[in-house]
Amino acid sequence: MSITPPTPSPASASVVSLLKEDRVFAPTAAQAASLGGAYCGSLDEYRVQHARSLADPAGFWAEVAADFEWFTPWTSVVEWNCPDAKWFVGATTNICHNAVDRHVLDGHGHEVAIIWEGEPMPNGVPEVRHISYGELLEDVSRCANALKSLGVVKGDVVTLYMGMVPELAVAMLACARIGAAHSVIFGGFPAPAIVDRMLDAASRVIITCDGAWRRGSVVALKQNVDHAIELLAAAGHTVSHSVVLRRTDNDITWNPARDVCWKELNATMSSECECEAMDSEDLLFLLYTSGSTGKPKGIRHSVGGYMVYTAFSAQQTFNLRASCGQVFWCTADIGWVTGHSYIVYGILPNRVPTLMYEGAPNFPGDDRFWEIIARHRVTHLYTAPTAIRAFMKWGDEHPAKHDLSTLKLLGSVGEPINPEAWMWYREHIGHDACPIVDTFWQTETGGHVITPLPCATPTVPGSCTLPFFGIDAAVVDEHGNELPANTGGLLVIRKPWPAMLRGIHGDRARFIDTYWSRVEGMYLAGDGARRDDRGYFWIMGRIDDVINVSGHRLGTMEVESALVSHPAVVEAAVVGMPHDIKGTGIAAFVSLAPTAIASDALKAALREHVAGVLGPIAKPDMIRFTQSLPKTRSGKIMRRLLRDVAAGRDSNQDTTTLEDFAVLAALRGNDE
Ligand code: PRX
Repeated sequence: MSITPPTPSPASASVVSLLKEDRVFAPTAAQAASLGGAYCGSLDEYRVQHARSLADPAGFWAEVAADFEWFTPWTSVVEWNCPDAKWFVGATTNICHNAVDRHVLDGHGHEVAIIWEGEPMPNGVPEVRHISYGELLEDVSRCANALKSLGVVKGDVVTLYMGMVPELAVAMLACARIGAAHSVIFGGFPAPAIVDRMLDAASRVIITCDGAWRRGSVVALKQNVDHAIELLAAAGHTVSHSVVLRRTDNDITWNPARDVCWKELNATMSSECECEAMDSEDLLFLLYTSGSTGKPKGIRHSVGGYMVYTAFSAQQTFNLRASCGQVFWCTADIGWVTGHSYIVYGILPNRVPTLMYEGAPNFPGDDRFWEIIARHRVTHLYTAPTAIRAFMKWGDEHPAKHDLSTLKLLGSVGEPINPEAWMWYREHIGHDACPIVDTFWQTETGGHVITPLPCATPTVPGSCTLPFFGIDAAVVDEHGNELPANTGGLLVIRKPWPAMLRGIHGDRARFIDTYWSRVEGMYLAGDGARRDDRGYFWIMGRIDDVINVSGHRLGTMEVESALVSHPAVVEAAVVGMPHDIKGTGIAAFVSLAPTAIASDALKAALREHVAGVLGPIAKPDMIRFTQSLPKTRSGKIMRRLLRDVAAGRDSNQDTTTLEDFAVLAALRGNDE
């Protein structure tokens, strides 16, 4: 590993701490060799290919797409009518065919597709399954036939609310196979989240589990589904079937009119089911993500572009090679886009086994991840900064106990990684030998959009480095003018890419308003960023009222609405605040109803209330009771001031529009 000398950077007021970072880690020949040989082997090669991908997107992506199997060819590679993109226009294919069938047809049916490990370790022995492509094809086909038998047809939306069991991947692929879109809901969300999403998607079939294992306890998934179905019925929406997979054997109530047993149903089905020929632009899935206002947005992804982009980005960013002994482990939950793209859809087409782990990183001990890596000889680990910070806190001795020598590449995703965490990851997990890819992307982008390539890009701790192929990323001002180096601005993408979102389900106006209205003709990511002297990108955090808690997006509005739905609360304002492990924690400023009494018990009750509406990830880390909230004369809550109060910073912000200075003074003096 060569370390180039520090490069001095000019100072900039807003990003002083980041500019201190001057460590650069160049890729080495040994790393490329250990990854089975580089796809892209130098920065110069990257620059040439990247420039070509922007100058001739049709030629570039046609070559990439030629590695996939299509049922009928495209008539044009891309049609762009901002903000609407079509990719591989006129072509038909099926992502399930490319992820599974194809490998079986090519004689690789016996190879491992999915390695699954359950959370419980009775007597210290984990439950492990190795599922080959041949077995996966049969399981997916049975499930596809089962869905058909329940009346699901092409174009329907099937809701999946399951734990991290292999059947979740099977169900996704089964939907894709028959042309039904899936909408996966994270198993940590409570009933109201299911209600909102099923209503929005007009989804009438849900697949769930009796329960999911989490840190040794059972999360009662079926119970949440039952509750959601009642609420939906009250709203006039009928759920026709709820398919239930037995996993935890907890007590559940059974409604024979709609509940169907996964195992019994699948057992009666044929293991043959032809793949539906899907138009490249047909809907593959909906995935809901938080926005700054209103309910979560159903992000739409289509078949062809998403398929090509996720598999190609996985191949290039992780240097995936089949038949090289690689084992890829992405620790995300499939309920988030990271799991969709880099546990299932991006990895399977590359014919590298994908590892799925059911539970928590600290169950039964703080070394569970490292034990899994050693036991399964994992070569690629893809995890989030929030997890890395927790590992640092739990102690170096846990990874040190295990043989991590199989690791060849480390990845980070979900939020900015602080340089200390990056260095710890490199040293304690990668033993100074593994390249680290800090991948910036979003639910909306489908796959990585700014990321190092492991054998080409020198990395700098804390920077996600350079745009991926086909991505014309820039930092601009409100008028779309590119800003000079080291100046913070808006992160945009100026050209279409295959996996870009195709819209927000049922809300064209919101799609345009959120992504396309602030800077004309450019996709607005919603993040602030700057580029350094090398042209490397540094993500500076969200520019809207979205906070990124442990790598998960939450709209501050959602948390405020949840708080206000409690009878004791009349008004609430929620902002992000620095948090050692989560990166950003949730601070809530709450004004109480005259009859309510401020107390620690009420704080605890409010936390639980928010968890009941939005899930445990949305629980405020800090609640402050206040007589009133600081507002402008026009009545807008001044969140930037609250952010300073929450962070314990002395605000030197402009308060000329503040209605009542006493409010702010009171908040500053009122420690929790
Ligand atoms: O703020 C950025 C942050 O996560 C947001 C996207 O969240 P989501 O759609 O839930 O997808 C997360 C996983 C892809 C972004 O707008 N983010 C994601 N990755 C990074 C990041 N911030 C900095 N560095 C990253 N590598």
